Amino acid sequence: MSDIATSRDGGVLCIAFNRPAKKNAITGAMYQALADALKAADADAGVRAVLFEGGADIFTAGNDLEDFMHHPPSGNDSPVFQFLYNLSHAKKPLLAAVAGAAVGVGTTMLLHCDAVYAADNARFSMPFVTLGLCPEAASSLLLPALCGYQRAAEKLLFGEPFDAAEAREMGLVNKVLPAAELAAFARARAHKLAALPASSVRTTKALMRGTHVKAVEAQMTEEGAHFRKMLSSPEAKEAFAAFFERRKPDFSRFA
Ligand code: COA
Repeated sequence: MSDIATSRDGGVLCIAFNRPAKKNAITGAMYQALADALKAADADAGVRAVLFEGGADIFTAGNDLEDFMHHPPSGNDSPVFQFLYNLSHAKKPLLAAVAGAAVGVGTTMLLHCDAVYAADNARFSMPFVTLGLCPEAASSLLLPALCGYQRAAEKLLFGEPFDAAEAREMGLVNKVLPAAELAAFARARAHKLAALPASSVRTTKALMRGTHVKAVEAQMTEEGAHFRKMLSSPEAKEAFAAFFERRKPDFSRFA
C-alpha cells in the first residue's frame, strides 16, 4: 500500500498517512500525493468531505528530515508548497482525526481543517525553531489568531509538545476522545457533513475562510522564502544531524 493511502467511503474521501516504519514522516512524493488527492477531491462532485487520518499511535512526524536535506523544496511549485496551497484553498470541508504525535506540519495543517478530533494520546508540536527553521503553513499568522499571541509565541518559539487537552483549550481541537473511539467518531462526523447540502457547506466554509485567504497566501509565501533559505543553514544541518545521531543539538557556535 502507498505511503499516502486514499479510500472512498460514500461521499467521504479518507486520506491516511501510512508510513509507520518512519512514523509517517512526509517525503516529497507523499506531499505530491496529498496535493493530488486534494485537487482531485475538489474536482470530484461525489466527494463532499475529506478526512485526514494517521495511525493509532502516530499521526505524522512531519517533514521527512532526510528527504528535506537531500531534496529541499526549490520553490512554490515544489510538492510541499503544492500541498499547502491545495490545503489552504480546499473548497470541500476538511476534517482530521489525530492520534499520537502530530509534529510540525502534522500540527500546522490542522489550522486549515474545519474540524479536528484528537485521541487522548495525541501530542502536538511545532519544533521549527529547535530545528533551525521557521514556521510554515501560515502558522505564524493563523496560530496567534487562534489562541492569542503569547500562547502562540510560546508554542512556536520553544517548540515543546503539548497534549490533546491543551490543544482543545487553545481551540486547535474540537473534541478529545478515548483513542479507541476516535476513528469511528471522526468518520461519523465526516459522513454527517457529507449528507448536508453540499453547496451550503462549501459556501459557509468559503465565507469563513474567504476573508483571510489572501493574507494566508502572502504569509505562506514569506514563510516559504525564509524556510527554504534556512533549510541549508548550518543551524538546520546541526539540528538534523543531531536528530539522526540521537543526541542534543549544539547551537552555541552560531551567532
Ligand atoms: N524524518 C525522517 N525520519 C523520521 C522522522 C522524520 N521527521 N521522524 C521519525 N523518523 C524515523 C526515525 O529516524 C526512525 O528511523 P529508524 O528506525 O530507521 O532509525 C523511525 O522513524 C522511528 O523514529 P523514532 O524517533 O525512533 O520514534 P519515537 O517513537 O521514539 O519518536 C517522534 C517519534 C515522532 C516523536 C520522533 O521520531 C521525532 O521527534 N521525529 C522528528 C520530528 C520532527 O522533527 N519533524 C520535523 C518537523 S519540521
